[in-house]
Amino acid sequence: MTHDAPHLDTTTAHPARRYNYWLGGKDNFAADRASADAIERVFPHIRTAARENRAFLQRAVRILIAAGVRQFLDIGTGLPTADNTHEVAQQLAPDARVVYVDNDPLVMVHARALLTSSPEGRTAYIEADLREPARILGHPQLAGTLDLSKPVALMLVATLHFLSDDQQPYTAVKQLVDRLVPGSYLAATHATTDFLDAQTQAALVAQNNDIIARDREQFTRFFTGLDLVEPGVEVITNWRPDPGVTMPPPEHVSMYGALARIPGITKPGDSR
Ligand SMILES: C[S@@+](CC[C@H](N)C(=O)[O-])C[C@H]1O[C@@H](n2cnc3c(N)ncnc32)[C@H](O)[C@@H]1O
Repeated sequence: MTHDAPHLDTTTAHPARRYNYWLGGKDNFAADRASADAIERVFPHIRTAARENRAFLQRAVRILIAAGVRQFLDIGTGLPTADNTHEVAQQLAPDARVVYVDNDPLVMVHARALLTSSPEGRTAYIEADLREPARILGHPQLAGTLDLSKPVALMLVATLHFLSDDQQPYTAVKQLVDRLVPGSYLAATHATTDFLDAQTQAALVAQNNDIIARDREQFTRFFTGLDLVEPGVEVITNWRPDPGVTMPPPEHVSMYGALARIPGITKPGDSR
């Protein structure tokens, strides 16, 4: 696979690179580390939150595979790390297909690691922005990989909190969901300050970083018209935790997560 050299701005902090740093990765630059450290000074549990977010993503993929879903549209993919969406999915269902989307050109540089599909399945990568749902849905890579007449799991894991309200995140989600058939799903996580004390909340606001925390009601609104799967909107660590695993308290995680099904009539076997 060949790529044109993307324009990489290494002087500004980027969410994918900062997250990579919190997860212990090496694909980050000084500006990312400075921004990540500044957030960590105010919210010292950020690395726990990043790890638990990753764990939620993997649990959600396993649950979706068990529900019969074989197609994933993962927007806000992040830099490849261990157990990416297609690896978790294809371990259980080798025919699973995944389209990855991210707006950070550095993810494109590393996309090869996301394109290691099983022979039975397929993966593709699109450099695009969540704020352009029509471009994502109309992209030839998507059409070549996913069959939109069959259910798709839309994954928006730790992505929505990079869009402020004036960047229309609710409209973007609705446009994507409206294109998916009944029996499809939306899985999402989102930063929140609901569990933080007033002092930490104020310090985060004063820092004016690029993460837009939303409360439970604001996060739940992304699922309007969808059927929330048990246990509904929860702190990610309380969302179907693996048995026997001791989870950190909500204030150390500060992320909501949920999975919801697009309602409607589907025929048996439609998920395949
Ligand atoms: C915190 S990472 C999450 C990665 C992965 N989904 C996970 O949960 O492990 C957020 C990702 O969203 C991407 N992102 C942020 N804003 C975006 C946008 N408007 N469109 C597409 N991707 C975006 C960032 O580049 C980054 O890779």
